[in-house]
Amino acid sequence: MNKDNLPVRSYKGTRDFYPMDMCYRNWYFSKVREVVEGFCYEEYHTPLLEPYEVYAAKSGDEVAGEQLYCFEDKGGRKIAIRPELTPSVARLVAARLEELTFPLRWYSIANVMRYEKPQKGRLREHWQVNVDIFGADEIEAELEIISIISRIMHTFQAKPDMFRIKINNRKFFTDVLTDVLKVKNTDVKTISRIVDKKAKMSQEKYYDWLKETGLTQDKIELLDKIFSSNLEEIIRMIHIDSKGANELSRLFQLLDETGLLRYCEFDFSIVRGFDYYTGTVFEVYDTSPENRRSLFGGGRYDNLVSMFKQRNISGIGFGLGDVTFQHFLEGNDLIPDKIYKSQQVLIARFPDVPVSEYFKLAEDLWSVHVKTSIYFSAHDKLGKQLKFAEKKGYSLVIILGVDELKENKITIKYLDSTTQVTVKRDECAGKIKEFPG
Ligand code: HAM
Repeated sequence: MNKDNLPVRSYKGTRDFYPMDMCYRNWYFSKVREVVEGFCYEEYHTPLLEPYEVYAAKSGDEVAGEQLYCFEDKGGRKIAIRPELTPSVARLVAARLEELTFPLRWYSIANVMRYEKPQKGRLREHWQVNVDIFGADEIEAELEIISIISRIMHTFQAKPDMFRIKINNRKFFTDVLTDVLKVKNTDVKTISRIVDKKAKMSQEKYYDWLKETGLTQDKIELLDKIFSSNLEEIIRMIHIDSKGANELSRLFQLLDETGLLRYCEFDFSIVRGFDYYTGTVFEVYDTSPENRRSLFGGGRYDNLVSMFKQRNISGIGFGLGDVTFQHFLEGNDLIPDKIYKSQQVLIARFPDVPVSEYFKLAEDLWSVHVKTSIYFSAHDKLGKQLKFAEKKGYSLVIILGVDELKENKITIKYLDSTTQVTVKRDECAGKIKEFPG
């Protein structure tokens, strides 16, 4: 081996998608797309690069700080590779505020990059399906977003016990901390950061961090008690009229009325790492302990569009990540084998038949959307061509030799069953269309 060869591995934390991987990815995206478009969402797309400032203000210290890919372009501008889509879509909305008819239902499927320590469920490049509503302040928007999530799960044949939609509310979290724990408003953000990471660190480290914020032992114990209480019990601990509590109660009532509650639960530890969330926040988890990272993450944000234009348009939505979702489908055996079979017809070659005849035949099949390719070498034996077809996963091989050409016929070989049939050439496409594979 030449030691100067370049490495064949992709950049750390990114994946190459070979044709087999693309079969899965296209299947997965097309199914999600079908669900989302079924709810009348329209697709948008944004550039991979954005001005750094788009993320600096509200994407939080982790994503916009430690994990941001950031560089200066040749014109001296500070540029970031998108680590997420939400500020970008807010920019698009802000740019056409006057022309757009609200509420908007928009979605996008795009890759994002974060400088993460690669590990199970966390890479440096992943694909997100982002689904957002703009300009709907009603709690019904939350309900719609959660019903899209449950429909996506249903589309992939996921059973209710395979996943949980965990819901909290940022206003409620702040009210509980300031009213029950008497935490200063300025310390809420620091504590929410610690709570957001709670599941990913040791108990000891968690308590140490809380102590560092100035929380006394009594308050830490009270916080533990809050974590082990249900929504009603926590609401009873608050002495103020909490808008967040009212929103949560109403949402859970609607989830109950619509039958979505069986997928959902209240979880006080869901706070989300981004600074822009202002109300409902949620994450969706696989119930398998093997797949610990969230599948979806999202919530309501009121102040993103106003970063660009002096107008408040609220947004609510989620990002669904492809990495953990694939683990979820694999872990539950929900990926059908058939998605990998894409080749259909191989036209075999014989030396004495002009190549134009094969192209004419293929043309008949291409024009009716039968996936067809023509074997390249006319000199290879039929046996070799058939072996190639089997190895590549073709379902059928068409034989058009000198005799068939004279009689204006073709033979179709069914590779699964080793049977074959001879038909007139103009019946070829019809006969192949009858084949279920
Ligand atoms: P997020 O929670 O950062 O939210 O990402 C959404 C999903 O992307 C996660 O639940 C996870 O599945 C996946 N994900 C995140 N980081 C990684 C990573 N390093 N490797 C693999 N998968 C990852 C957002 O990005 C929000 N902007 C979503 C949103 C849309 N909120 C409102 N609208």
